[in-house]
Amino acid sequence: MRSHDVVVVGAGLAGMRAAIAAHEAGADVALVTKVHPVRSHSGAAQGGINAALGNRSDDSPASHTFDTVKGADYIGDQDAIEILCQNAPKEIIQLEHWGAVFSRQDDGKIAQRPFGGAGFPRTCFAADLTGLVILHTLYTVCVKYDIPTYEEHFVTELVPDSNGSCVGVVSYDMVHGTIETIGAKSVVLATGGAGRVYRPSTNSHSSTGDGMGLALAQGVPLKDMEFMQFHPTTLNPSGVLVTEGARGEGGYLLNSDGERFMSKYAPNRLELASRDVVSRSEATEILEGRGVNGSVMLDLRHLGRERIMERLPQIRELAMAFAGVDPIDEPIPIRPGAHYHMGGVHVDSWGASPHMPGLFAAGECACVSVHGANRLGGNSLLEAVVFGARTGDAAARHALESVNGAQSEASPAAARDYERRLQELLGRTKGPKQHEIRDVLADTMQEKVGVFRDGSDLADAQAVVHDLRDRFKSVVVDDKGKTFNQSLIHTIETGWLLDLALSMVTGAVERTESRGAHSRTDYPERDDENWMKHTLSYLEGDQIRLDYSEVTVTEYQPQVRTY
Ligand code: FUM
Repeated sequence: MRSHDVVVVGAGLAGMRAAIAAHEAGADVALVTKVHPVRSHSGAAQGGINAALGNRSDDSPASHTFDTVKGADYIGDQDAIEILCQNAPKEIIQLEHWGAVFSRQDDGKIAQRPFGGAGFPRTCFAADLTGLVILHTLYTVCVKYDIPTYEEHFVTELVPDSNGSCVGVVSYDMVHGTIETIGAKSVVLATGGAGRVYRPSTNSHSSTGDGMGLALAQGVPLKDMEFMQFHPTTLNPSGVLVTEGARGEGGYLLNSDGERFMSKYAPNRLELASRDVVSRSEATEILEGRGVNGSVMLDLRHLGRERIMERLPQIRELAMAFAGVDPIDEPIPIRPGAHYHMGGVHVDSWGASPHMPGLFAAGECACVSVHGANRLGGNSLLEAVVFGARTGDAAARHALESVNGAQSEASPAAARDYERRLQELLGRTKGPKQHEIRDVLADTMQEKVGVFRDGSDLADAQAVVHDLRDRFKSVVVDDKGKTFNQSLIHTIETGWLLDLALSMVTGAVERTESRGAHSRTDYPERDDENWMKHTLSYLEGDQIRLDYSEVTVTEYQPQVRTY
């Protein structure tokens, strides 16, 4: 049986940054990933990464902190947000020293563009390919450090010891068709988000909430799952992302009357209000009949060919390929689309689970919480590297100080036990297919748990998810083969998506207020007296049990939030 001090599940930005930090702390660390590292969804991040770099003397980490607290609609933990913003400049410089090629100002400094909800232009970028550039940079560091990487290994289960500590993972090696236990003294979940619980979504097909599902199955709670971010500019109908950088570079949003409608909703910040505000404004325009075939228009024409080609080359290609328009000459039809989960595995500011010793999480699959009810654009890549590094370091320390001695206590029997359960699943010949269940799930979430929600739609969605979870109990996998069994993988992913959806709708039903991305038409106001708290959801049998925990406030008391 293979065993390491630290096993990191997922090899996007958070996972690789965690692995690098664990390696530098002296741990034997391995990456386990269902796709090749540079195919991780982090590579789809376009517009940038925030840091108060000091390009402007009036910007500062404190100002970044305030913008993030306000963007989060006051439900982010302020001590964690301070860590995020204070460490941001250091991480950007580190990435640059490792070879990340950021776009530049004429004076040679790293260029920064304005992003939504930010008081200053502080989003560093590499044209509109920022995630991809950082992903490749971190991969080169992992290669340099010779960090072992189990590619095309799909983690199916966490392995607890008799005390409930996490001591490894069960993994399906798709290439060889084998199931094995990989032992670890610390396991870091860094599997990204669960955007595929919706359709359309900006997320890759691999974003199926694996880490959250793995944790929930062990009785580890998820935090703030009702908060799903809808990005204001996604292509209709594909859901492909059009970066906020397009508005940062000066793009306008227009309705069917040609009106720059954001002046009605956010008179100061216009298109650069925070994402929840812009998405709601677009949805209102569309609902009230001022849309264009279910979209509003993103107009970049006034930026001119040269700026579009320099700063937004990928956006131009995507708009031409997926919407049939060249933004140099025509506006792009866009609408809000599911993009990012503010919720995730409940962890502390070192990425550690208070519920399962040895378990850590970082990046979108974790909830520290730095994004609260609404994340600011450009803070996701930042969270991935800042908390990836902290979590990798903490996981290494836990492993190296571990009382377990030289070896993890995981046993090969964990894999054999999983294999037996898998044989039962593969032996079934009659029942629904996973794709039938997943289609209904995604359509229900899209229709009833969207930009605007209400109690009746949420209750409907909850009933549908319960019903789908029942049907899933007799799901049939058509492919009975051992290698590259995508049908089996999609089935396991669908099981997790169902659990996560139940967490999301249950949290949303109970939260009778509007805050950030959770906007209830039947409870349109924020209710700090009753709801200034985090939601914790536990899976118990077929039900989600909710509990609540305090929000950490250090400096900023809640205020009315306007842009
Ligand atoms: O719009 C974007 O480029 C996405 C950035 C983000 O989600 O942080």
